[in-house]
Amino acid sequence: MPRVSVAFFTAAALAALCGMAWGTHMGMTGDHSLSPAHAHLNLLGWVTLSIMGGFYALPGVRYSPKLAWANFGLSTIGAVLMGVLLPQVLMQKMTGQVMMAAELPTILGLLLFIAAVVGNWRKAPA
Ligand code: HEM
Ligand code: HEM
Repeated sequence: MPRVSVAFFTAAALAALCGMAWGTHMGMTGDHSLSPAHAHLNLLGWVTLSIMGGFYALPGVRYSPKLAWANFGLSTIGAVLMGVLLPQVLMQKMTGQVMMAAELPTILGLLLFIAAVVGNWRKAPA
C-alpha cells in the first residue's frame, strides 16, 4: 500500500476514534446539541478520508504523489477544522462564516481527488 494511503487511513482512524468517543459522550450525557459536528467529523474524517486512501491503493491506479499528498493535507485539515470550528458555531461563539476555513480546504482537497480520479480515464482498460 502506498504511504499516502497509510496516511489517509491513519487520519481516518484517528477521526473515527475522536468521533466515536464524542458520540459515546453525547449518548451518556443526553446532550445532542453538537451532533452535526460529531456527524461531520465522522463523515469527512472517517468516511471520506478512507474512501480517498482506498482509491490511491487500488491496483493499477496512476497518480502524481505530490497532488495525492496535497489532497491528503487539505482533506485532513478540512475534516479537523470541521470538528473544531462547527461546535463553536453551534454554541454561537463564532459566526457561521468561520466555517469557510473548514469548507475551503475540504472542497480543494476534493477537487484534487477528482483530478486524480479523472486522470485515470485515459489509461484505464475498458
Ligand atoms: C461509537 C460510535 C457512535 C456513537 C456512540 C454515536 C452517537 C450519536 C448520537 C448520540 C447522535 C445524536 C442523535 C440524535 O440527536 O438524534 C448521533 C448522530 C449522528 N451520528 Fe453518530 N455516533 C457514532 C458513530 C458515528 C459514525 C461512525 C458516523 C458516520 C460515519 C456517525 C454519524 C452520525 C450522523 C450523520 C448523525 C446525525 C446528526 C443529526 O441528526 O444531526 N456517527 N450519533
Ligand atoms: C464541506 C463539506 C460539508 C458541508 C459544508 C456540509 C454541510 C451540511 C449542512 C449545513 C447540513 C445541515 C445541518 C443541519 O441542518 O443541522 C448538513 C447535513 C448533513 N450532511 Fe453535510 N456537509 C458536508 C459534507 C458532508 C459529507 C462528506 C457527508 C457524507 C459523507 C455529509 C452528510 C450529511 C448528512 C447525513 C446530513 C444530515 C445530518 C445532519 O443534520 O447532521 N455531509 N451538512
